Amino acid sequence: MGGTWRAMGMSFLVLALIGLIACVSCQSDGDDSSAKVFDDNFQIMWAEDHFRTSENGQVWHLALDQKSGSGFKSKNKYRFGWFSMKLKLVPGDSAGVVTAYYMSSDTDKNRDELDFEFLGNRSGQPYALQTNIYAKGVGEREQRHTLWFDPTTEFHTYSILWNAHQIVFFVDQVPVRVHRHTKATRDVFPRKQGMYMFSSIWNADNWATRGGLEKTNWSAAPFVSSYKKFHGLGCKWEDDQTTLLPCANSNNASARHWWDKPVAWTLTKKQREYYRWVNSKYLTYDYCHDQSRYSTKPVECSVAPWD
Ligand SMILES: *[C@@H]1O[C@H](CO)[C@@H](O)[C@H](O)[C@H]1NC(C)=O
Ligand SMILES: *[C@@H]1O[C@H](CO)[C@@H](O)[C@H](O)[C@H]1NC(C)=O
Ligand SMILES: *[C@@H]1O[C@H](CO)[C@@H](O)[C@H](O)[C@H]1NC(C)=O
Repeated sequence: MGGTWRAMGMSFLVLALIGLIACVSCQSDGDDSSAKVFDDNFQIMWAEDHFRTSENGQVWHLALDQKSGSGFKSKNKYRFGWFSMKLKLVPGDSAGVVTAYYMSSDTDKNRDELDFEFLGNRSGQPYALQTNIYAKGVGEREQRHTLWFDPTTEFHTYSILWNAHQIVFFVDQVPVRVHRHTKATRDVFPRKQGMYMFSSIWNADNWATRGGLEKTNWSAAPFVSSYKKFHGLGCKWEDDQTTLLPCANSNNASARHWWDKPVAWTLTKKQREYYRWVNSKYLTYDYCHDQSRYSTKPVECSVAPWD
């Protein structure tokens, strides 16, 4: 692994061209980072030798074996935007293996975080998608869905919409989870800190699959998950920044970016249909209904996903 760096260098010209073309279309939509190579947007956090790219640099792979997992992190922090990536998850016997794809302020005790976590399974058994939200260091807001497709055979798009009104987790075009900013949820709605985008793969066989009953079968290693087409349409953020303008307007109907406009403040009619469909058929766990953990319902659990 890692030998593809040289190949990346050779195809630099081609990539530069692609970058140029991509940038013409991104002007109108903020800091679009689409169709660029890994290095432009991300850095490896650990185990560089467990990371590799395709020959043309457009597809990235993270591997887990008994020695190590691996992970990457965006170079920029963002506050508000539309963030999406295509992922193909570890195929075959992936029990115990977790691929995480998330945004986080990376600020220790005070951290805000929006998580997609894919929990592997034995061959032929369904993956679970766990989502979670941390606000000011407090998480434990897990929901779990099974997926209506096999996430290991093809790439699917996983996205986060984040503006001053709502945070929405999408799987392809389907909004699986909505976290709204209302008076009641102002303290549990992450909005004051910028966030990096991360992804990583690691061994979590102490809890991930059937509550930790299924252990990782290392004879199936290395476990590899794949990524492509990162789109970070967001406002870049510096930690010492105090104002959103001019990138995001929050409450301004003539905002510059589509993800900041009224159309993105609440789910559309079609999205509401998808939301109802997925949550009636594929939701397998919701902390909001877990009375053994929460004797009083967390405030956000009483807020409807739209008015
Ligand atoms: C794995 O498969 C089992 C059996 O179908 C299922 O109960 C479980 O929810 C699946 N997912 C995880 C992450 O355990
Ligand atoms: C682990 O995987 C190997 C093949 O990759 C298989 O032969 C073996 O039965 C598996 N072990 C368990 C406990 O599932
Ligand atoms: C709303 O945004 C537009 C365009 O960015 C700007 O011209 C206008 O002054 C803003 N209005 C308010 C009330 O902030």
